[in-house]
Amino acid sequence: MEQKISEIIQRTTLRINAINSVKELNDLKVEVLGKSGELTLILRGLKDVNAQDRPIVGKIVNDARVELENAIEAKLGVLERKELNDKLMKEKIDITIDRKRPIGKLHPLNEIKRKAIDFFVCMGFIVTDSPEIETTYYNFDMLNIPPDHPAREPQDTFFVTDEIILRTQTSAGQIRTMEKIKPPIKMISPGRVFRSDEADATHTPCFHQMEGLVVDKGITMCDLKGTLSSFAKHFFAADTKIRFRPSHFPFTEPSVEVDVSCVHCGGKGCNVCKGTGWIEILGAGMVNRKVLSGCGIDPDIYTGFAFGVGLDRITAIIHGINDARVPFEGDIRFLKQF
Ligand code: PHE
Repeated sequence: MEQKISEIIQRTTLRINAINSVKELNDLKVEVLGKSGELTLILRGLKDVNAQDRPIVGKIVNDARVELENAIEAKLGVLERKELNDKLMKEKIDITIDRKRPIGKLHPLNEIKRKAIDFFVCMGFIVTDSPEIETTYYNFDMLNIPPDHPAREPQDTFFVTDEIILRTQTSAGQIRTMEKIKPPIKMISPGRVFRSDEADATHTPCFHQMEGLVVDKGITMCDLKGTLSSFAKHFFAADTKIRFRPSHFPFTEPSVEVDVSCVHCGGKGCNVCKGTGWIEILGAGMVNRKVLSGCGIDPDIYTGFAFGVGLDRITAIIHGINDARVPFEGDIRFLKQF
């Protein structure tokens, strides 16, 4: 009897190991342990065993039953986990599918604008905003630009009414700032400006400037030159030089045009700098006394400098863009290059 039982255990164990599905395993369980299963029949046959041996044989059969039940349970666990895994693999959703969508990036002009803002913010400047639709009061009168100045002619300025225009320069922001904050003032104000120019390779009716204004006690032209020189070195190359050329703006006195040594040829002369070795990037000067007093700031106590950078120009120099209209066209073939 003992031998028969151990043979059943051995045989059944081999079959359990070989089985690969929950269904087959359940069938095997019925076949061996079910109502008319081999072991069950042996248990039933116990009544024919003599009373003395019955408890011993009974224990052997029961132990065999427990052993096989455990083996089946263990295998069931393995198979169920495997079946669940297979199901999960089959029902998997590929959440990476959208990766193929093109990823956008900043327009080169905005990239340059942000880089310029970062530079001045690190130097302690605040960033201010001022309206694109402006009054002649802020855009001209308060900047010491008299009514008969050519900038106020309709061929230079977009007029909405006699007194409302599209701002022609971010300099209007200087006045709005000085009306609100008293010195010390260190601010920049980037934004769009408009002039009624016909679009060509060097002009667009809308372009971008960044105004800068510093007003405090003892500010001199050296501060202006130092600030702009650091800016040029940060933007172009560590050995970039700047030079001041005398100029005229009604709201600064003295006024200068500022050139940087050509980033492409290092000052030797090439077609980017038209053989001069220098490229003009901004207008600047010491804030006119009339402008300071117009804003309620005493010009005998305070002095200041102001500058207006052409952001489109800087972008064009850095990226070698030779037509001012192209960055406004939104042509994907152009934008993809940056
Ligand atoms: N607003 C001047 C322009 O548009 C530039 C400028 C700004 C000059 C500040 C001096 C000071 O050309």
